[in-house]
Amino acid sequence: MSDETSGVFIVLEGGEGAGKTTQLELLEEWLNRTGRAVLRTREPGGTAIGERIRSLVLDHGQGEVDPRTEALLFAASRAAHVTQKIRPALHSGTVVLCDRYIDSSLAYQGAGRGLGVEQVAQINEWATQGLQPDVTVLLDLDPEVSAERRAARDGGDAGDRIESADIEFHAALRRAFLDRAAAAPARYLVLDATDAVESIHHEVRARLEPLLHRAGAAS
Ligand code: TYD
Repeated sequence: MSDETSGVFIVLEGGEGAGKTTQLELLEEWLNRTGRAVLRTREPGGTAIGERIRSLVLDHGQGEVDPRTEALLFAASRAAHVTQKIRPALHSGTVVLCDRYIDSSLAYQGAGRGLGVEQVAQINEWATQGLQPDVTVLLDLDPEVSAERRAARDGGDAGDRIESADIEFHAALRRAFLDRAAAAPARYLVLDATDAVESIHHEVRARLEPLLHRAGAAS
């Protein structure tokens, strides 16, 4: 139902360890069962060039990546993603499920790395030609819990370069995500990531059902 299209654009956001992947899997299974056309994708990545940018920006061994370079790389990946995959899918009536989108750049590069949310918003507006999700599900998680979950998941490893950042960085991210949601409550569903997986899934479904019906994609 994104402005000019018959598809529906759904984004999952949140800090690391919030359970986005699990929720995306459940959502994808549900939508598939109802016979809808679904595209599940992720950022950075989602296209051949985007996946190359992903390894440039996330893998160790590139040396120091300054924040502006990082912000532009994420935005470049996003521009390709929107143009080559997301917009065409929405035009054909597909439900697009995307793991992270612009809000991740506003939180990580804008707030976390100190570039300023407004400036990062501007380059992303330009990169995406203004494409906004129909709904963003924010899985909100306390940074301490996030750190514990990440440590458990990584078996104590440092994780990728960005995941090595400290609790304060994650607290800044959390505030930025919550600020975004508070500024446009109609387009957000904020859920407590420590709730049970099934309960989160049901809340997400309840929020999406009317949207999918209106888009004519209902089962
Ligand atoms: P990923 O392995 O996909 O982790 P997660 O499961 O947490 O999504 O790594 C994506 C990393 O990239 C994550 O640390 C967030 C970061 N990121 C940004 O800093 N800016 C962005 O715009 C995006 C999309 C991701």
